[in-house]
Formats: sequence, structure tokens, C-alpha cells
Amino acid sequence: MLAENLGNVFELALELAYDCEQHLIDHLPKMTDAACSEPLRESLEQYMDQTKEHRARLEKVFAALDRAPGAEHNPVIRGITGEGEKLIKHIDRSPLLDAVLIMHANQIAHYEIALYESLVSFARTLSLQDTAELLEQTWGEEKIAAEALTRIAEHSVNREAARFQNTPHIFPLV
Ligand SMILES: [Fe+2]
Repeated sequence: MLAENLGNVFELALELAYDCEQHLIDHLPKMTDAACSEPLRESLEQYMDQTKEHRARLEKVFAALDRAPGAEHNPVIRGITGEGEKLIKHIDRSPLLDAVLIMHANQIAHYEIALYESLVSFARTLSLQDTAELLEQTWGEEKIAAEALTRIAEHSVNREAARFQNTPHIFPLV
């Protein structure tokens, strides 16, 4: 998409956010399956439910703008999840992997926080008040998700990970 004005940039960012949420709906279950800690699994399941809501909210935004969600490809979220998948593959299911999963989930959440922060600001500047409010709801939920993950890390997972020694694999995993 060629961006000539702030309206175009806003639409581009909306499409990147939409592709991000769609992609996470495929990625988050892999993280949940890899997690051992029950609070972490619950938190990731909740993240998944919210991700579906975020996608639905973006569809409302597109409808309000009288456009269909585009097919913009978001390379940033794919880069982040690609790194996460490598880590999941190379560490056995364990408290250590749980700590890594929280680090990875926080990278995702903070990318989303940054994206929605800009979207809210663009919508306000463009006097799209209702749209700004919808996006602000998502922005707030992303921040709460990141805080909840950090609380789980600090409350239990990091301490358990510190006591755990991963067995190195003799053959590299592919
Ligand atoms: Fe989201």
C-alpha cells in the first residue's frame, strides 16, 4: 500500500494489526501446548481468547471505515514468532521453557502494545473518536496481558527455571 497521508498510514497500521492478530491465532496454541505451568497455560489461553476478540474488534473498525480488511503481510510478528518457535523446538518442556515462553509472549505483547498505541493516536488525530475508543480497549488489554505474564514469571516460573538444568541434545533438533 502506498501511504500518501496519515489516513493511509493509519489504514496500513490497521492491516498490520489485523494480520498480526490472525497470525497469533495460529501461533498461540503452540505456546500453550509447550507450557507446563498451569497459571501460564491459563494466561496463554486467555491471551488466545482476547486475540480473537481483538481481531473481531478490528473487523468492526474496518466496517466503520467502509473497507474490507486487506491482505497486508506483517513481517515483524512473523519474525518474533519464528524466533519463538526455534526456542520451543530446542528446549524440553520444563520450567526453563516456561520462562522462555513468558519472555516470548512478552515480546509479542509489547509489539502489540506499540502497534495499538500508534493506532489510537492516529485515530484520535483523524477525529475518529469511536474507532479510537475501540482500539484503546485492545491497547489496554494488551498491557494487562503483558503485566499478567510478568507476574507469573516473578511469582513462580523464574524461580523454578533457575533450579532446572536442561539436558543438552547430542544431535541438533530440526
Ligand atoms: Fe491482540
